[in-house]
Amino acid sequence: NRVVLAYSGGLDTSVIVPWLRENYGCDVVCFTADVGQGVMEMDGLERKAKASGASQLVIKDLKEEFVRDYIYPCLQAGAVYERKYLLGTSMARPVIAKAMVDVAKEVGADAVSHGCTGKGNDQVRFELAFFALNPELQVVAPWREWEIQGREDAIEYAKKHDIPIPVSKKSIYSRDRNLWHLSHEGDILEDPANEPKKEMYMLTVDPEDAPNQPEYVEIGVVSGLPLSVNGKEMSPASLLAELNEIGGRHGIGRMDMVENRLVGMKSRGVYETPGGTILSTAVRELESLTLDRESMQTKDILALKYADLVYAGRWFDPLRVSMDAFMEKITETTTGAVTLKLYKGSVTVASRRSPNSLYREDISSFETGQIYNQADAAGFIRLYGLPTRVRAMLEKRHLRC
Ligand code: ARG
Ligand code: SIN
Repeated sequence: NRVVLAYSGGLDTSVIVPWLRENYGCDVVCFTADVGQGVMEMDGLERKAKASGASQLVIKDLKEEFVRDYIYPCLQAGAVYERKYLLGTSMARPVIAKAMVDVAKEVGADAVSHGCTGKGNDQVRFELAFFALNPELQVVAPWREWEIQGREDAIEYAKKHDIPIPVSKKSIYSRDRNLWHLSHEGDILEDPANEPKKEMYMLTVDPEDAPNQPEYVEIGVVSGLPLSVNGKEMSPASLLAELNEIGGRHGIGRMDMVENRLVGMKSRGVYETPGGTILSTAVRELESLTLDRESMQTKDILALKYADLVYAGRWFDPLRVSMDAFMEKITETTTGAVTLKLYKGSVTVASRRSPNSLYREDISSFETGQIYNQADAAGFIRLYGLPTRVRAMLEKRHLRC
């Protein structure tokens, strides 16, 4: 038998390789997805995997698929978890899990394994995706089984099994990076009263050190999805990479929160989502022109549910998939351009335009127009306020007797 392991090349997943061989007697195929975690992480990975005892390493570039099929639907939906989180890690797990299921088929594996701890959301996201895509696959989660407790134990185990210990100095934070975001958890962040250290951040400059000159960036949007930056059309992954660059140098998209994990505990995390923050702002601003009141309200209510499903690992559920159909339809007319002003950590809207805009200057203007007759408002308000008047009359009568 054979297992496909989600492999990063770090200490934990390096130790999982011999552990799987020892405890399950299986051939280990390592799998690394490129979701934009940075080129450095890919260097010498195959040599490393084999040195740990893997029979092979499969690498797949999932960047375009990740942005087009996972990030863009969430962007279109306006999905935000617990008021702040743009779901960077949550969206990446299903795309990686799907690729693992494909690789398992390609190499004839009957099991899959991951290095997520038993305390987090990620284990749920991986495993629900495995269930949805191939319920036959066995799932092995070493962190929930082994006695290895921390870094020291892991190093010990590696030495005992003659596995080279990854030289890359382990950071004190638990980080997860992809094209959309970088998350930081652990160490001093575990006390929500502690402010993050300036040196922790990796994708964004400190807003205090950002340029004194603001920068304008124009996002072209077609049906709720970004198509161009400053007039230049780009593929989803390159567009996002470009905006990470632009946003990063102005300190855009830092966010610090305490969130409710699916497994019941609260956890504190700090996120950097420069390009994502720019894109979310742009799409939302354009919707202010293209969506009527009730469409917007209903979309926002559904977006909460959508975010919840994504956070909770239910990417392949029929409910989320069906909500995509709704989101696509309702943003059909959200086409146009938004210019944003980036300045020392803030994103403000400078301009929005849409051929489908429902905004009518001739109606809304303080200068008198033809279509809107102010005299109509008197009757409207009397009927609209009828229940208010009836209630007030009743209260007044009660007061009298
Ligand atoms: N708390 C975030 C989430 O659940 C980020 C998790 C980061 N994952 C990690 N393996 N470091 O989506
Ligand atoms: C982990 O526990 O593996 C990372 C944190 C999380 O999944 O929420």
